[in-house]
Amino acid sequence: MAQHDIGLIGLAVMGQNLVLNMANNGYSVGVYNRTQATTDDFVGGLKDRPEDVVHEGTADRVVGYDSVEGLLKDLKSPRRVMIMVKAGGPVDAVIDQLKPLLDPGDIIIDGGNSDYADTNRRYKELKEAGLRFLGTGVSGGEEGALKGPSIMPGGDPEAWPFVKDILQKISAKVGENNDIPCCDWVGEAGAGHYVKMVHNGIEYGDMQLICEAYYILKHALGLSNDELYHVFKDWNESELESYLIEITRDIFTVKDPETGNDLVDQVLDTAKQKGTGKWMSQHALDLGVPTTLITEAVYARCLSAQKDARVRASKVLSGPDGQYQGDKKQFIEDVRQALYASKLVSYAQGYVQLDAAAEEFGWELNNGSIALLWRGGCIIRSRFLQDIKAAFDKEPNLENLLLDDFFKKAIDEAQPSWRRVVAAAVELGLPVPGFAAALSYYDGYRRDRLPANLLQSQRDYFGAHTYERIDKPRGETFHTDWIRERNLS
Ligand code: 6PG
Repeated sequence: MAQHDIGLIGLAVMGQNLVLNMANNGYSVGVYNRTQATTDDFVGGLKDRPEDVVHEGTADRVVGYDSVEGLLKDLKSPRRVMIMVKAGGPVDAVIDQLKPLLDPGDIIIDGGNSDYADTNRRYKELKEAGLRFLGTGVSGGEEGALKGPSIMPGGDPEAWPFVKDILQKISAKVGENNDIPCCDWVGEAGAGHYVKMVHNGIEYGDMQLICEAYYILKHALGLSNDELYHVFKDWNESELESYLIEITRDIFTVKDPETGNDLVDQVLDTAKQKGTGKWMSQHALDLGVPTTLITEAVYARCLSAQKDARVRASKVLSGPDGQYQGDKKQFIEDVRQALYASKLVSYAQGYVQLDAAAEEFGWELNNGSIALLWRGGCIIRSRFLQDIKAAFDKEPNLENLLLDDFFKKAIDEAQPSWRRVVAAAVELGLPVPGFAAALSYYDGYRRDRLPANLLQSQRDYFGAHTYERIDKPRGETFHTDWIRERNLS
């Protein structure tokens, strides 16, 4: 007998917490996991979980199944099945299992961190099979999944009305009355997962910039972890107020029970990555848009991962390793401003990539609404996203966030500090790939003439690749025999 509002397949922590979130919000959920013991442990253990995790009545609304067939039999029509399994092959495997068992019009929702290109493909294949597919980005980690994530649904627009209520109900809320859901329709095919990928790329950028600020304050000023805690606490009460600044603040207070040292100092300096930041950079290159800061953030993780090589090189290579000699208080403020300005560039680049992708795939993305999706629940949530939303509300077709009055003024104010920090870091031998890439992008973007005239001359010189002229219409090309024309003295 059909009874459940939705089915969920894949009971790792994110899956489990989404189920609880749905059931806490009054929905009836059927669940299935490939390893039966996981389902049994999860469902059987619900009664022992605290009340703020499993609300009254929730345990009765979650039912475990030992087969996909059994689960599907008990779902209301059109059936809504959410998949929370590892991105890649496992998603295809579950879809292959579901496909012959579903009826036309049934809905599959992939809530994992899938590659948007896979989502484009799956959307097309499932549409041909009469099924409605949604590739849905979910951000906010374990806690977000339980208490309200940011949700970025894309795929088949016909499926949206059937899942809108559930997804909006379980999502994070923002606004004065806490009633604006951080979940709204993003666009067709892989648009939802694309927006989630850009979210993650921006997350890489934000994290890298925070790490650079930390590194400068630690090495150039010699700040202790306790002092760093206070700096980040102050910053979290400024324009930088955000989830990532907040958790960074808190990290400096955690002790290692084994050694008694601050835990952050015991953590090995090699970053891992699952790939979403890299995907964004790869597609930026395909689109030909300069998403430099996020790409530098990916490279910074790669360099950090070469720990053994760096340890060997550190014994051979030399360079400055000095302390900052100027006004300490002013320098801390300079670093804050540099972080803010660089972050702005990162978001500006992210939105330029979104615009280019929308054009490439024929998606109608609403940049202001995307800012609102990221305003709460997700890893990059921040006060700053409200300003981005306001900028796109003012001018929906804004070519680049840097051109918005509010942000132009912010960059103008931050600029002297930003330049001082990058200059000081270079002088002191401290790597700041994010800060420097952001500043170089800014300086490149604001110049009407770049040295590419020389580059085109070089290309034409050695390869007859032709060039355009400043005094002739665009598109008309010219070639010069540079060897014959050269005039060497
Ligand atoms: C989120 C996070 C989440 C996850 C990343 C980590 O939005 O909730 O972005 O998706 O933490 O996948 O990515 P890396 O392993 O690449 O750092």
